[in-house]
Amino acid sequence: MNGYSLIDLRIIGDENGSLIALEENGNVPFDIKRVYYIFNTKVGVRRGFHAHLKLRQLLICTSGSCTVLLDDGRKKVDVKLDSPSKGLIIEGLLWREMYDFSPDCVLMVLADEHYREEDYIRNYDSFMDEVQKNGI
Ligand code: TYD
Repeated sequence: MNGYSLIDLRIIGDENGSLIALEENGNVPFDIKRVYYIFNTKVGVRRGFHAHLKLRQLLICTSGSCTVLLDDGRKKVDVKLDSPSKGLIIEGLLWREMYDFSPDCVLMVLADEHYREEDYIRNYDSFMDEVQKNGI
């Protein structure tokens, strides 16, 4: 499935512990305009339920774990994020849902645009219309 990729983030470790550095247009392959994080998600909650028209994002579980469902209108994949060194880049027209949050999960998201509700597709039928329109 196109529109997403998994990247390994280099851990800089020493006897004190570990560190990961994120750099704009380095290991983060876009301009970073926004960072937000999702935490304290209650057990059993499913979030997301949207696609983006243009947005590029990098998702990292800096603590705990969760699973991201990606759907291109034909196929679905479930990506488990369970390490702070695992990054999920989403840049295509993909419907996404996040679930299976561990109680300690902190899901950090870096994005290449400010928050704009106009970039969201929050209805699955509208998402499928957009998929058809794009000939995917
Ligand atoms: P929403 O996208 O609905 O998150 P989820 O589907 O995971 O629950 O966002 C929840 C609320 O937060 C919504 O009112 C929009 C607001 N929000 C911002 O103000 N800025 C942001 O960067 C994001 C991601 C959300």
